[in-house]
Amino acid sequence: MESQIIKRSPSNIAIVKYWGKHGNQLPNNPSISFTLTNCFTETKITYDDSETQRLRDSETQFSFDFYFEGKESQAFKDKIEKFILKNEQYFTFLKGLHFKIESYNSFPHSSGIASSASSMSALVMCLLGIKYKDSEIDMQEASFLSRLASGSASRSVYPTMTLWGKTPALSNSSDEYAVPIGDMINPIFKSYHDTILIVSSKEKSVSSRAGHSLMNNHPMAESRYATARKNTEDLLTILKQGDLEGFIKIAEAEANQLHDLMATSTPAYTLKEPNTVNIINKILEFREDTSLPICYTLDAGPNVHLLYPDFCKDKVHVFIENVLKDYCHNNKYINDRVSADS
Ligand code: PMV
Repeated sequence: MESQIIKRSPSNIAIVKYWGKHGNQLPNNPSISFTLTNCFTETKITYDDSETQRLRDSETQFSFDFYFEGKESQAFKDKIEKFILKNEQYFTFLKGLHFKIESYNSFPHSSGIASSASSMSALVMCLLGIKYKDSEIDMQEASFLSRLASGSASRSVYPTMTLWGKTPALSNSSDEYAVPIGDMINPIFKSYHDTILIVSSKEKSVSSRAGHSLMNNHPMAESRYATARKNTEDLLTILKQGDLEGFIKIAEAEANQLHDLMATSTPAYTLKEPNTVNIINKILEFREDTSLPICYTLDAGPNVHLLYPDFCKDKVHVFIENVLKDYCHNNKYINDRVSADS
């Protein structure tokens, strides 16, 4: 009998950044992120789980076809196959199964938005749907396996805010999987918006994978990890207290440090573009003029994430339309917000 599993998983934006790893995708410092709403991947797995089908196919470990936005994609298929085979002890339930994976992103793939967090967590949740059938998926397992596919994907499985990586500030934290922290944060942070200002839609010149590995011999690595650990502890307090000023300081310092690390790697590189800096300067000016608690963060790319609480949404939207839009590639930006508690 043919079965179908459909899962949706959102993208996330880190406030304290994960940059540098060891072993099998273990982070060199803890990270904290907002889980988003509108930028998501939806993945569907279709398979025949009847005993006869499994027996007929049992010679093969497993096999699958992969379609991205309606088109067969060998590159994505290879990536997924490599991930499953590398971690095959966790995927024994796939033995003898042939399945079809179909996936699409809610955001244009030319928008320069990192999609590995949403796509890998959606994929893992679909695969676990095969294991758990009608029962509820074990979310810790979902986060653990998502992490093995893409570190930041471990944080996408829970709503609002999540923390990944061991920190003395949170007893249930782990390097192996992310934990939800939505119930610990002041409600103001659940109201946050993230407008992604698209500066460039080009593929990144240096991948995140290469960036992580450049941290291995980085002269600032140890001080970076110490700073990130402290920022994680401080941010947890700030989130509990609803301290918007403290939040702004850490969010912007983390974004700047991430890009400074790139600029001081060997070889050095930059992913910022002139309009990244122009947008940041306009945001700082607007904050100075209005005293509204808006701030920016950056992912490993040129696009700027503008973060603001709901109460200043109307004024910020006018600012985006009148000022920031002009610096965006094809005037393009994406309005997203922190996902609601599920
Ligand atoms: O999950 P990866 O391996 O694509 O790395 C993500 C790294 C950053 O997006 C720059 C930071 C983060 O914590 O999400």
